[in-house]
Amino acid sequence: MDLSTKYAGLQLRNPLIVSSSKITGSVANIKKCADMGSGAIVLKSVFEEQILDAIQEQFSKDDMYFWFPEAEEHVKSLSTGQGVQPYLNLIKESKSAVDIPVIASVNCIGGDLWVDFAGRIEEAGADAIELNIAVVPYDENMDGNTVEDVYRRIVKSVVDTVGIPVIVKLGFYFSNIVKMSKTIQDAGAGGLVVFNRFYRPDIDTGSLEIVNHNYLSSPGELTIPLRWVGLLSGRLDIDISASTGIHSPDDVVKQLLAGAVTTQFCSTLYKNGIEQIAKMKDGLESWMDGKGFDKIDDFRGKVGSDTLQKAAFERIQYLERTLL
Ligand SMILES: Cc1cc2nc3c(=O)[nH]c(=O)nc-3n(C[C@H](O)[C@H](O)[C@H](O)COP(=O)(O)O)c2cc1C
Repeated sequence: MDLSTKYAGLQLRNPLIVSSSKITGSVANIKKCADMGSGAIVLKSVFEEQILDAIQEQFSKDDMYFWFPEAEEHVKSLSTGQGVQPYLNLIKESKSAVDIPVIASVNCIGGDLWVDFAGRIEEAGADAIELNIAVVPYDENMDGNTVEDVYRRIVKSVVDTVGIPVIVKLGFYFSNIVKMSKTIQDAGAGGLVVFNRFYRPDIDTGSLEIVNHNYLSSPGELTIPLRWVGLLSGRLDIDISASTGIHSPDDVVKQLLAGAVTTQFCSTLYKNGIEQIAKMKDGLESWMDGKGFDKIDDFRGKVGSDTLQKAAFERIQYLERTLL
């Protein structure tokens, strides 16, 4: 059976990608993911704050940077190199350990500093770069267009800097996800991850403190990305990778039927072990076998492509009284 898939210009042996998390922060785990059959892995993100922290630390050590601002530029390039060297090593070591695509990941909050760093990611041998962009607009005077322009600018500057494919991972807090996705496509990205699952703080009513104990997704969370994969895949040319709530082979099948080019997951690996990748792959194959499909393109986008089914993805209110 042929599971091969082309995603953002990369040739993958199957559409099962291990998404960015602590799991993909070590070469031993990455090797295990490849051995269990994953099509590609996305490395744990390097955070823009990590790069900035390294710089800040240098500044705080010496007043000289206040009096001699030209020294600041020097320290910036120095710290950028120092703060992120372990990440560049992770790329190099992963690349020599596995023969599936290794996608590096940068968590961007809006600054420009790491754009140069994107070039170093490419030099280190990453096959593609995933931008995990999370601009949280706290400023009540910042309008939606301004926020969206930050995304456009980030994508454009990285696309102009590197020759490898650029993939963008989005959250779903936009007033018009289709327009935002089109903007990202027009800025030159080859792939779009729909969606990231952001940190979800909760409150412990005993200790009166903020806690984070729901850091893994549950299967029910699949439906929001499923809707948007269905709505985006017929409209845009960019390759869509489904993310959040994919826990079983059936979830993979659903996202491919809705039009996803690849699927990404990590919560199910935290819950069931990295071995779960082999179960996802076997389950996908046996479903295809049962339906008589030989390759992914035989059924990708099959649900949601006609007008009636598309309308079902678009509908947001319940119509049937019996459902209420
Ligand atoms: C422990 C943990 C760490 C994560 N770290 C990152 C990260 O560094 N960068 C990133 O883009 N996403 C990160 N994510 C988000 C995942 O890549 C993924 O998009 C999200 O968890 C939804 O997929 P899931 O339902 O399979 O968990 C992390 C998720 C978890 C659970």
